[in-house]
Amino acid sequence: MKRGNGRLSEGKKRAAEKVLHRVLLDVKPTPNEIELLNERSNELMGRLKAEAPRNVDILLVGSVARGTQIRGTSDIDIFLLFPKTMDERRMEAEGLKIAKRVIKKGGERFEIKYAEHPYTRMFLKGIAATADIVPAFKISNAEEMGSAVDRTQLHNKFVNSKLSQKQRNDVRLLKAFLDARSVYGAEARIEGFSGYLCELLVYYYNSFIGVLERMAELKLPLAIDILNKGSEKHNVSEVVKRFNSDFVVIDPTDRNRNVAANVSLGSIAKAALAARTFLDKPSVNTFYTEGYSDSWATGLLRKLKSLDMEVLLVSFRLPDMTEDILWQQLKRLGERMAHELRQHGFPPIQSLQNIRGQDAIVAFVLERREKRADVIAGPSAIMSGASEAFLKSHDRHYAMFLDKDKIISIENSKYATAGDVLRRIISQNNIKFPSYINKKGARLYSGRMPVRYQALLKEALEDKAVH
Ligand code: CTP
Ligand code: MG
Repeated sequence: MKRGNGRLSEGKKRAAEKVLHRVLLDVKPTPNEIELLNERSNELMGRLKAEAPRNVDILLVGSVARGTQIRGTSDIDIFLLFPKTMDERRMEAEGLKIAKRVIKKGGERFEIKYAEHPYTRMFLKGIAATADIVPAFKISNAEEMGSAVDRTQLHNKFVNSKLSQKQRNDVRLLKAFLDARSVYGAEARIEGFSGYLCELLVYYYNSFIGVLERMAELKLPLAIDILNKGSEKHNVSEVVKRFNSDFVVIDPTDRNRNVAANVSLGSIAKAALAARTFLDKPSVNTFYTEGYSDSWATGLLRKLKSLDMEVLLVSFRLPDMTEDILWQQLKRLGERMAHELRQHGFPPIQSLQNIRGQDAIVAFVLERREKRADVIAGPSAIMSGASEAFLKSHDRHYAMFLDKDKIISIENSKYATAGDVLRRIISQNNIKFPSYINKKGARLYSGRMPVRYQALLKEALEDKAVH
């Protein structure tokens, strides 16, 4: 596998360009689709303009406004920009009111969605795309920011002034490429690369292939300052420390924001693997997943069992809540449970979470073992207070001895199996549950389980596969 310093040979580059040309035909919306999107967003903006007071601006943002949307999946993002002098709560309420007033009877409907603040999602007639109507403050730079979504209008200006047509198509390719590996999108479920991050990466590394070359050879920590393209002069370790992250992309419109803040290490790893696969052997296949098939996961589960591993799964019923929040909470709960398992000598090999509708699971793959004794490391026998306290509180030991100066106690184990640890978690109060995940409906399964939980488990396992 020779790529030199991440650069493709001329021959490979030509092969890659050919593949990309082919993929772009699938990824770029057709002229008809673009025309329909433009027509419908203009019509909707006209309706909003007619209902909104004069001091409110209506602005088309997001990938439709920037020409970076992917075929068939794009949504219309429209911002209602209110004067900065308005109170934030009032701005939100006015925004919802204006959006609600423009809904046409007979076929159109809306939902209120919650992000940093509430906005309206409209389901239009005669077009698959939905339209998000988001209220924000009108600003001209990040210092004036009054709500978290205000930056979006600045992103629009930056991307539109910097990206060429070819680069916009490269953004489309990058989104599709990452999406095929389930790492496109900043939401908690994915923890991947947002649309804006894709736009900035293509700008910074000039092209889709430029981004992939860099991903294939990625070394962390990585800190890039988009505004200093071509002449990086910042101190990486200072930036990494300031943002408390190993992967920092400084927002050109707001120096205090890391656009890559939501990208998990797992997503970076998947992107790096996929980039190497593509550059080593450019093929359209890297862009197309085979769709979800559970045969791989079924085979893996059988294999694990034969290797004396076990899979434990806890199922939950979820309330009706924003999915992003539920995902954040489920992941946090998964980490706490994994911590508890490790603490008691059952380190999970794999922690998995998944959500579908109101069903949620947290699952663990572990080495199957039964423990009769716990080994407890005590303090140094030289420290009188601490060692006396330890001896007193561990008086029910089987055996106690010194390892150099440290006291080691062998005791009846608190939990014989990992299942015991989990059973205790869902029946007692030894770990804190996040607010929207209810312990009451929780069930523990090992081995046999209802088909719908099996499906969630297999999907989560498949998501961790190294292709
Ligand atoms: N945005 C943001 N932070 C987020 C989500 C969105 O700053 N967490 C801004 C970005 O400027 C983004 C715009 O809101 O471009 C619209 O968001 P979204 O529709 O999620 O992304 P798009 O860029 O439109 O990409 P896609 O093609 O996937 O819709
Ligand atoms: Mg969008």
